[in-house]
Amino acid sequence: MLSTKEKQAPVRNIADVLSRGIHEGLFPAHLELVPQLNEVYELELAFYESQTLRDEEIIRNGAYFARVGDTFTRHFLICSGEPIRLPKHSSSRLRSFFETNQFKTRYATHGLFPYRGKFHPQMIKALINVMGLKPGETILDPMMGSGTVLIEARLMGIKSVGTDASPFCRFMTQAKLDALTVPLSPVRAALRNSRSVFEYFKALAGQPKQGGKMRSKEYPGDLFSVMEPNVGYRPRSAAGNLPEGCEAREVYDFLLLAYLDSAGYSERSDRKSPYEQFRAILERYLFVAEKIQRVLAGAEPELAEATPLEGDARCLPLEDSSIDGILFSPPYSFAIDYLENDSFHLGFLGTDIGNLREKMIGLRGQKLRQKFDLYKVDMSQALSECARVLRPGRICTIVVGTNNNQLGKIMGVSPNDVQGIDELLIELGSQHGLQLVRKLNRQITGMANTMRTEFIVMLQRR
Ligand SMILES: C[S@@+](CC[C@H](N)C(=O)[O-])C[C@H]1O[C@@H](n2cnc3c(N)ncnc32)[C@H](O)[C@@H]1O
Repeated sequence: MLSTKEKQAPVRNIADVLSRGIHEGLFPAHLELVPQLNEVYELELAFYESQTLRDEEIIRNGAYFARVGDTFTRHFLICSGEPIRLPKHSSSRLRSFFETNQFKTRYATHGLFPYRGKFHPQMIKALINVMGLKPGETILDPMMGSGTVLIEARLMGIKSVGTDASPFCRFMTQAKLDALTVPLSPVRAALRNSRSVFEYFKALAGQPKQGGKMRSKEYPGDLFSVMEPNVGYRPRSAAGNLPEGCEAREVYDFLLLAYLDSAGYSERSDRKSPYEQFRAILERYLFVAEKIQRVLAGAEPELAEATPLEGDARCLPLEDSSIDGILFSPPYSFAIDYLENDSFHLGFLGTDIGNLREKMIGLRGQKLRQKFDLYKVDMSQALSECARVLRPGRICTIVVGTNNNQLGKIMGVSPNDVQGIDELLIELGSQHGLQLVRKLNRQITGMANTMRTEFIVMLQRR
């Protein structure tokens, strides 16, 4: 150990110290990091990747490296090029936003549909690596939301299962998974005939009141059938025709997701007519699918099986010790009412929202205090299910933040004195045999966000 005197000794050659960056101290010279890696947690994950993956694994599945020697990584290739085709008049602020997030969020089919509370896909890729998952093994996201884990795992050759209580999440996840390989010529034909495609879906579902948050109950009940994986397309005579090839389930669901996405925008804004909004979104969806399919051309057989299910994380339809890793983000307590956000889409798909609310963690109960108590009971049940299905020795990672202000109000204490949701989950996990091995912090920036820190909590099944 250095004596105090030695520690305080002045550095003699300051130029020597300054000429070496922190990256050179952490990584071997042949590993080049992706651009825009600028947060401490990212550097930590990159470090773990470099420690746990062989060079060929970094090329195939690494999240934070652009190059290994002379070879570009697949992540770099997937993310390269224009992140999104922005209209010419877009502000430089918007452009810079997309450029900054090019390697973090704006790649593959992750950008389809703006689901709130989505994961950072690049971080998910790194976590899947760091948790030790290898191609052929199976990862579970019991609260998959928009399916970030399943999409990343599929690209990485790792099998995945996801559940979400919301049937809309299952539909959205399946459509985003399928978009990796959806046949593109019928989609191009749909874009050429966008007016009649728009009219088709409008006749089926009505169109939202522009800028008005429509809450129509007048939808045909059988729309739900488009979400059943094995129920093929059913022609709906009242609604006219779609271009040839659009009846195939993958294409149909791709177009439907674009329609629902545009309906959501139209509810929030009346800058464009619903039709113009639909056309713009379909154009963007096609751009996204074309871009990822160009990179994947020839590598489709390497995509792994992914199974999104409608289900309850408190009662998983899985065998004991059948899963090699779990990665999820629970509802952020009561900050986001997912059903309120998705009410148009859920209504459109024929879901009984009242029934669904009873299954949703964080939404059950009347007053906030009661909701919080039920949240604890439900999360304890969900963690006990995680422990049951996870193989001993493997890792369950939870990404979670705490809204201290909100919790402080509920508990009647100062925001500084509340127990964070991260700490609560660590405590509940340990009661079910899941033991903390590492906790990382991720700072959340942005004026509008009341949550300042998100935690990545890694628990090992004893
Ligand atoms: C924070 S979001 C997950 C977002 C996801 N990580 C993504 O990348 O899109 C939490 C999800 O938990 C789901 N959820 C709530 N209660 C559930 C339950 N009982 N079982 C399964 N999922 C549930 C919600 O529908 C929501 O999609």
